[in-house]
Amino acid sequence: MSHARRLLVVGNWKMHGTHASNEVLLEGLRSAGPLPCDAAVCVPFPYLAQAAERLARSPLAWGAQDCSAFEEGAYTGEVSAVMLADFGCRYVIVGHSERRALHAESDQTVADKARAALARGVTPIVCVGETLAQREAGETEVIVKRQLSAVIHTLGHCAGEMVVAYEPVWAIGTGHSASPEQAQAVHALLRSQLQAATRHAGGMRLLYGGSVKPDNAATLFAQPDIDGGLIGGAALKAADFLAICRAGVLR
Ligand code: PGA
Repeated sequence: MSHARRLLVVGNWKMHGTHASNEVLLEGLRSAGPLPCDAAVCVPFPYLAQAAERLARSPLAWGAQDCSAFEEGAYTGEVSAVMLADFGCRYVIVGHSERRALHAESDQTVADKARAALARGVTPIVCVGETLAQREAGETEVIVKRQLSAVIHTLGHCAGEMVVAYEPVWAIGTGHSASPEQAQAVHALLRSQLQAATRHAGGMRLLYGGSVKPDNAATLFAQPDIDGGLIGGAALKAADFLAICRAGVLR
């Protein structure tokens, strides 16, 4: 089957790396040559300039892992979408489950961040996903729909411009990825929710995240509604990340 949507693979470095270790990782990525998909790395704020410098004229884009919902002002410690655009960011992750849990980000805050990013031409990668307790209670559908609906509502006619990442919390950093069937089932739900909201839903990219590795990426990316991945641990090694980028060639 041929897929209309080009695969997108995004590395989420989380709070890892130093200037020196990034040099090695970025050089490994930069020297890879052409890739069969769109690819990007979302790095910690202090290293945006380094990523921008090293990845310029490479096939990889770069981005950040969060942004403020506000334009500018007295928000100590925050980083605005304007600033991300200033550093050439193409993407920003918003609503990652670690931020929802550790920083008590509400669905509406996540939606406001997505809107702030889009207003500055930075594509938000909006994360949704249920915890293990929620899955076991049969609440997966209700939870992910509620999380996505806040963003759809806030973005209005621009909803088609975001990227959505389904990341079941129980699969993140655990080595236990969702099965391709489990992931596809949720992706199909999200796609139909988007279809009801925007006529661009068919072209939108829905990423899967949670323990994606070189050896499970191909079967995940072969699912009809999975259009790439958001990669944590495996994005910290150039060879693994590039292997995941190449896993979609048989789609
Ligand atoms: P993981 O993280 O690939 O290490 O499971 C994914 C994520 O949190 O984005």
